[in-house]
Amino acid sequence: MKINKIIPITLLLTTVGITFGCKSTTDLTADSDQKMNHFISDLMSKMTLEEKIGQTVLFSSYWDVTGPISNNNFIEQAKKGEVGGVFNALTADFIYRMQKEVVDHSRLHIPLIFGYDVIHGYRTTFPTPLAMACSWDTTKIELAARSMATEAAADGLNWAFAPMVDIARDPRWGRVAEGAGEDTFLGSAIARAQVRGIQGHDLKDTTTLLACVKHFAAYGAPVAGRDYNSVDMSERQLREFYLPPYKAAIDEGCQTIMASFNDINGVPATSNQWLLTDLLRKEWGFKGMIVTDYTGIYELLNHGTAKDSADAGAQSIRAGVDMDMQSNIFMNYSKSNLKKGAISEKEIDRACRKVLEMKYKLGLFDDPYRYCDTLRAKSTLKHPIFFKASHDVAKSSIVLLKNENNLLPLSKSTRTIALVGPMAINKRNQLGTWHTGGREETVTPIHEAFAKEFPNSRLLVAEGCPYEGDDRSRFPEALTAARQADVVVMCMGEQEFESGEAASKTDIRLSKIQRDFIAEVRQIGKPMVLLLHNGRPMVITEEEQAFQAILEVWHLGSMAGPAIADVVSGDENPSGKLTMSFPRSVGQIPIYYNYLMTGRPETQERFTSRYLDSPNTPLYPFGYGLSYTTFSYAPPSLSQPTMRKDGSLVVSVAVTNTGQRDGEEIVQLYLRDMVASVTRPVKELKGFKKVAIKAGETVKVDFTITNDLLSFYNAQLVKDSEPGEFTVYVGGSSTTTNQTRFILE
Ligand code: GLC
Repeated sequence: MKINKIIPITLLLTTVGITFGCKSTTDLTADSDQKMNHFISDLMSKMTLEEKIGQTVLFSSYWDVTGPISNNNFIEQAKKGEVGGVFNALTADFIYRMQKEVVDHSRLHIPLIFGYDVIHGYRTTFPTPLAMACSWDTTKIELAARSMATEAAADGLNWAFAPMVDIARDPRWGRVAEGAGEDTFLGSAIARAQVRGIQGHDLKDTTTLLACVKHFAAYGAPVAGRDYNSVDMSERQLREFYLPPYKAAIDEGCQTIMASFNDINGVPATSNQWLLTDLLRKEWGFKGMIVTDYTGIYELLNHGTAKDSADAGAQSIRAGVDMDMQSNIFMNYSKSNLKKGAISEKEIDRACRKVLEMKYKLGLFDDPYRYCDTLRAKSTLKHPIFFKASHDVAKSSIVLLKNENNLLPLSKSTRTIALVGPMAINKRNQLGTWHTGGREETVTPIHEAFAKEFPNSRLLVAEGCPYEGDDRSRFPEALTAARQADVVVMCMGEQEFESGEAASKTDIRLSKIQRDFIAEVRQIGKPMVLLLHNGRPMVITEEEQAFQAILEVWHLGSMAGPAIADVVSGDENPSGKLTMSFPRSVGQIPIYYNYLMTGRPETQERFTSRYLDSPNTPLYPFGYGLSYTTFSYAPPSLSQPTMRKDGSLVVSVAVTNTGQRDGEEIVQLYLRDMVASVTRPVKELKGFKKVAIKAGETVKVDFTITNDLLSFYNAQLVKDSEPGEFTVYVGGSSTTTNQTRFILE
């Protein structure tokens, strides 16, 4: 099917029956709510205790693994009604056969629910979430989620373990690749977009999945950046910076939530009554289903907060957990826990009901096989429209970090281009971490895309250097190519498994051999462009000196090559902006833009909050990204100099494209509360708009400020604003000084 470039991609999606862009109305109406409750109450009245416990059990299939396998006879158990769901099972055919086994043989014919880590694509792979976040384009991010849900649902799945919304300020932690970065406001907007995309506006639609916001909570703040490590912070910090994206996902209608591995202030999330019941269900009104992370219940023994598995199981279901992922503990101990009074039948009924509600909302009781259409799978997976969407968002995810003397874009009449480095022809690593259903054969690699993008250039391709190790035997071939070239494009970075789960690092520079390789190429003295492929922000302080131009190209998925080639050639003007700070050194971590002033702000004076060996500032800050054109900002103006709590005010700014070519600019609004009852960040993102501006044109951008944007948690944990002066910053990066002030009365 030829993709018509003119028709908006969203319209095209509709042509393949994919609804898009509607608020998730997965919450049932009162009438349908009543019908569901009646249906489930009637079903539960027929269920035995064992069958109710069975619904709270989730096992991994052997088809794909995302952790240790502990049980291989789950199908036999499921046929006895002792399993409620399976994850990591794939294909419409395999799922159909498993579902049929269970529905036909189980006493009450209750269907299974099938989950999978559909994180940034299914068969068509999109850029990693941190990369897509750098587009700041919630429409494209929603479309990516819509696309991956459509593919996965076509292949039999019902439930995506996404979005991951963990705020993170520490790039040593490999899972920063799965989230949206360091900012709460942006992370919340992206969380909402992802839930909309995954759940669509009707969960019975067979292009939608249940979403599962994770990892609740604050998994992105492990001590020392080491995965699974403890999280310890004040409740104020938790509520101010880490909890809002989970709340945003739930307010958007997210139906399930995953408890995180970590302990929070000493209490593991998996058995945290305050977190899962008092906060989530009572304060936030969450009515969906809570699932643990992989063997999370069993891990309470390692945490040392449960004396045995039975105790772990009792604590978790009492705390609010409804489904036990992979630890076998609800299956093996709930009945005896009930018998000895460690848990109540009410808790078992609650958990069972929550799982049955999910199955009901998916329409699995109407037709357990509604997602298992092998013909639909065949016509849906790898549909050209998904590659188009992936290509589109990948282009917008690329961040131009440096462009000395406008080396980029490269002219298409460049005589000879050397394309060197481990990523020059590699496909698999373009998929990035958690590519799960992705396949490397879907990837167009860089060298193939460059050959198409620069047909009149001589392209010398030589990897020359491995990702790691000390094999320098292929350096010479790459150095020879570099000597013959007019420009050297170096494709360097991390392999896909170097970020993601269980991938923390103490050194986040390029590997030694890659740095040596760069140094040798640099000796040749040709203009050099760095294409940096990574899951996390890296320390590239050395490279910042070595290259005239640097593009942050992340792991962009199936369309990595074409997206990168479009930007390098100038067919696409880069517009991405970083959503996580790039430190100058690992010693600066944690590092983030919305820091507190301290009593001794950094100056050149000795006794101030500074380092002896480095500035406090990052190498590249949050919100930063260059363009092939330039933009200038007039001072922001206000609709009025003061604002009442029950009122609002409008901030307006004129942005001019002062360059020679059209471009897109992500206009960012930051606020600073100058004096408050607690210390407040030097600035916080409170609005952003991506605007297309033609060369030489000026666009007026407005932001409306309301009281909720000024509110924060005070020392008594009351969220409110306080009268006083606020500074408003509007610019193209968090470092903007373009400002004005207003008074909140
Ligand atoms: C993993 C991850 C979680 C994932 C789950 C199922 O350990 O922590 O993000 O959804 O297990 O694969």
